[in-house]
Formats: sequence, structure tokens, C-alpha cells
Amino acid sequence: MTAGGFQEPDFFTDHSVLLDPYEALEAVRSQSPVRQMKSHDFVMVTGFAEATAVLLDGEHFSSVIAAAGPTAPLPFEPEGDDITGQIAAHHHKFVGSETFLSFDGAQHSARRALLSRLFTPSRLRANELYMHGLADRLVEDAVAKGGCELMHELATPYVTYVIADLLGVPDEDRKKIADILAAAPLPGSVDDADAGASLAPLAELVGGMFAAYIVDRRANPREDVLTDLATAKFPDGSTPEVGELVMLAIFLFAAGQDTSAKLIGNSALHLAENPELQDRLRADRSLIAPFLEEMLRLEGSSKVTHRLARKSTRIGDLEIPAGKKIVISLAGADRDPHRWEDPDTFKLDRPRVKEHLAFGRGAHTCIGNPLARAEVRVLFDRFFEHASGMTLSQAQHGPAGSRRLDYEPSYIVRGLTELYVELTPATAHAAPARSSDEVSVA
Ligand code: HEM
Repeated sequence: MTAGGFQEPDFFTDHSVLLDPYEALEAVRSQSPVRQMKSHDFVMVTGFAEATAVLLDGEHFSSVIAAAGPTAPLPFEPEGDDITGQIAAHHHKFVGSETFLSFDGAQHSARRALLSRLFTPSRLRANELYMHGLADRLVEDAVAKGGCELMHELATPYVTYVIADLLGVPDEDRKKIADILAAAPLPGSVDDADAGASLAPLAELVGGMFAAYIVDRRANPREDVLTDLATAKFPDGSTPEVGELVMLAIFLFAAGQDTSAKLIGNSALHLAENPELQDRLRADRSLIAPFLEEMLRLEGSSKVTHRLARKSTRIGDLEIPAGKKIVISLAGADRDPHRWEDPDTFKLDRPRVKEHLAFGRGAHTCIGNPLARAEVRVLFDRFFEHASGMTLSQAQHGPAGSRRLDYEPSYIVRGLTELYVELTPATAHAAPARSSDEVSVA
């Protein structure tokens, strides 16, 4: 759409912006960091300060459309300057309302408290032990073959099994769950906006298994994670319905699978194209953590999240009426030149890089962020242990300088569809330099 000579990119239907969304985001931001889009009825926030302010402001902005995004119509006609009551009355009619991401205030924090039982330091340490073993096995297999298609053979199974372990899914059921999840559509399809927006289809496929675990553990408590989840209570002492716990468990897979797998792919691509960086990280594993933070900023796997204005307010200079849909461009904010010096350049030593918005900010900040950070760090640590080099397959991706790479057709998820890498085995197993923040697996 042309407005005053500006050709507005369409992030929601246009495949051409998938390869490089950053140029299009820069074009929108240079018009305004808070822009009422002409081609769709929503406001797009691409400025870092403005995006942070919206994420932190639960009073004026509701998360009810966080998962489904701006394309689904509201289930009511907004009335007045405060639609909090309307949102509450119609909450169940919003697409994606079954995920706890879509709740606000006390309803959200009560559900988040249930999940936080899974993310205790001791549980994360046990989970990290599992990650090491799994990563060793997957990387060793890939190196033995001389390479692999990293997204499907390594990244996706790795992250799915890690979440299954976190939840305590019995070993014999993990493959079945992994196969179902691998076939699930990504949210935010540019071809079919409804695909992947609701968890209902996934719940139909794996919900029965989780319901059975929870019913069983309530009747026969054991010393395991599923028992912890099954017997968890809301902060007010009430017991959640089985269905509620099932949706929480499924949402963990939905929220943590593709996001982490795509971050692994985006980071592996950067490493494959930068052999000197591989050498630096291999020689000093403590650099893997800052490397990943800069990758999260530069190529984070969640490009956007969404809010609905529930009270009339302002973002920056723009008046926002109650009922306005807001698209928060995390990818745009994380390359905002007002916040980041030389934002399109990878810098291993970027100051305060952890302030990026790749995991969101505020009450809904990614609860899985310690797990995501650990799993990707552990995987690359094991990669540097077993491989002395990773390059892109020229046969699959073309020669350096004119690579052929495909990105998922999703306006939400930033990630490669496939990544073929060639791996050179490590010649000698010298004792690796250990990362300073690595959790002991002894
Ligand atoms: C690189 C990997 C990941 C990225 C980039 C990512 C990104 C995000 C973002 C941006 C949000 C905030 C959404 C909002 O404010 O509307 C979020 C929320 C969430 N994430 Fe992640 N995530 C990742 C991995 C994970 C993992 C591994 C898990 C769990 C195993 C997970 C579970 C969740 C949950 C449960 C929420 C909702 C939190 C709430 O509403 O309170 N994520 N994630």
C-alpha cells in the first residue's frame, strides 16, 4: 500500500519478506516506531523503547490475542474507553484462549505459578544432565555420517525430547509425542492465518495421554515430575481441572519446541558461515552464552507478539483507542538503531545484550528462557566437542555468496525450513575448556 510515497510491506501475506524481514521492518520503523498500518487494522510497534513499554503495561494492554495475533476478528464490538469487562465476558471466544498466555492479571499469575513448579533450579539441573546425554548422542551420530539436515535430524527431536523430559513423560511415550509434534503446523502462517493458532488440534492428538498421566498420578502419587504437576494447586489452594493441566503441558511443547529448534538453526547457520567464530567458541566455551544472546537479538526465533488495548491510551506519540490490536515486533525492536549501535552487525561483545526482547518482557516473559538458553548452549558445547568444523552443504544451499535458504512461511516464527551441514570430526579429544556458567552435570 502506498501512503505518501511509502510502500508498506505486508508481513502477513507476503512471502518475499520472509527471507529478510529486517529490511522491511527498518522501512516501517523509519516511518514511525509506532505505526497505524494502512493495509491492516492494527498498530505495529518496531521501536525498542515503545515495545518495552507496551510489554510492561498490563494495565492498558491485554494478552488475550498474544497467541492468535491480529488477523482473527474480535468476538465483540469494542465499546468505550475501557473494554476490560468485554474481554473477560468473551475471553473463551478468542482464538487461542485455551493457552494461559492469553490470560491477564491474577488469572494469568495463578496459572504461571503452577508451571513454575517445573522450572525449579533442581529440576532444571536434572533436565540439563539429560540434555548432555541426548546432545552427545545426536551430535556424535551426525558427525559419524559426515553431516545432517540439522533442523529435522537434530534440532527438532532434541528440543522435543528435552521438554518431554522436563515434564517427566515416560520414555515409551516420547517418540509418539515427538512424531505428532513434528507434524504440527507452525503458528502465523502467511498462507493460512488460522493454522497453528489454536492448540485444540494438538490437544486432540496428545491430550488423552496427558490426561491419563495426571489422573493416574492423582490416584497413585509417585516421586516424579508428573506427580508434581498433577498435585499442584493454585495459589488460593484450589485444585486445577485435569483439562487445565493438560493444556499447560501441551502449551509448553507448543511454546518451546519450534522457538528453540529455530534458534538452533539460525545460530548454526551463522556459525557455519563464520569458521573463525567456530574456532573462537571451540577454544573458549564460555563465549557460547554471549554468542547465543547476540543471536537471540539478531535472529531471535519469535518475531512478534500481540496485545489488545483494553483501555484507551498512547504509545509514543500515537493515540490508541481501546480495542486496537497491537503487533509488537520483537525482531524490529531488537534491531532498533536508537537502542542498538550498528544493529545489523553481529558483535560477540555487545554491551548489555541480554536486554534484547527475544523472550519478551514483563509478566509474560518467556518462562522457558532458562531452559532454552541451557539447551542451545549445551548442544553447541557438545558440537564443539565432537566436530572440528561445520560448513553448509554446497550441493543443497549453493556456493558462498549466493546461498539458497528457505525460511518458514510464518510471520511469527523466524527459522529455516532446512539446513544441510557437513561436519568434520574432532581429531583429538583434548579436554575442553568448560564454560564458566555451565551447570555441573556430575
Ligand atoms: C529460543 C527459544 C524461545 C523463544 C525465542 C521464546 C519466546 C517467547 C516469548 C517472546 C514469549 C512472550 C510472549 C508474550 O509476551 O506475549 C514467551 C512466552 C512463553 N514461553 Fe517461550 N520462548 C522460547 C522457548 C521456550 C521454551 C523452551 C519453553 C518451555 C519449555 C517456553 C515456554 C513459554 C511459556 C510457557 C510462555 C508464556 C509465559 C506467560 O504467558 O507467562 N518458551 N516465549
